[in-house]
Amino acid sequence: MGRAATAQSFYGRWAALYDGIARYTPGVARLRERAAAALDLSPGDTVVEMGCGTGANLPYLRERVGPEGTVVGVDFTGPVLDRARGLVERRGWGNVHVVRGDAARPPVAGGVDGVLASFVVGMLADPAGTVDDWCDLVEPDGTVVLLDAARSERRVAAPVNAAFRAVTVLSTPSTLQLRYDDSPHERLFERMTAARAALRRRAAAVAHEERWLGIVRLTGGRVRPAEQPSQR
Ligand SMILES: C[S@@+](CC[C@H](N)C(=O)[O-])C[C@H]1O[C@@H](n2cnc3c(N)ncnc32)[C@H](O)[C@@H]1O
Repeated sequence: MGRAATAQSFYGRWAALYDGIARYTPGVARLRERAAAALDLSPGDTVVEMGCGTGANLPYLRERVGPEGTVVGVDFTGPVLDRARGLVERRGWGNVHVVRGDAARPPVAGGVDGVLASFVVGMLADPAGTVDDWCDLVEPDGTVVLLDAARSERRVAAPVNAAFRAVTVLSTPSTLQLRYDDSPHERLFERMTAARAALRRRAAAVAHEERWLGIVRLTGGRVRPAEQPSQR
């Protein structure tokens, strides 16, 4: 089974459990609220969430763009999208759409004011290239916000890192695999770092916050207009 298929089968199987964790982990609601705020959206804007999962961020995004704006959630796992769709239907939001697609090739044409990816870039094969593409997708002055959890670089966080490492191993697709070619928590850290470096190259910082002893990072950027070719 390929990497994407493994991830889809993993999240598909655990959709209900993940939904509970995504919504009710203490402190996570505050993180989602902060991520939505960092997008700096206005009523009427269009925002896309890449890898929206069961839709835990959708209420915060909908609140920011209001009934006249548009929210699009993209995910490649059917069962998590069913949960997100159920949420949208229960709330009766006509302007929130969830679509099945690959965040690395999002089925969105443009006219986007903000892109959010929370707990997703660590799963991408090419996080830097994909973040670069997301920067191309947003309108001039649009924002891209990344929210992630990975090992902390703070010394005091050693015990928390150990716990985080165990959680990463258990929650990485192929949980029954006892030996990994490379460690999932290091791979997560490297992908998260590459995604942030790509965002910094393209955008002026609008947010950089660390929470939970540095394990959680919220990084947002306002995409700079493409440089004009110099005139001779
Ligand atoms: C850890 S969950 C995060 C879900 C949600 N963003 C949240 O904050 O709760 C990761 C989600 O990303 C999705 N995902 C991972 N890679 C993807 C890709 N290339 N395209 C679309 N969805 C992807 C998975 O299906 C899963 O639902």
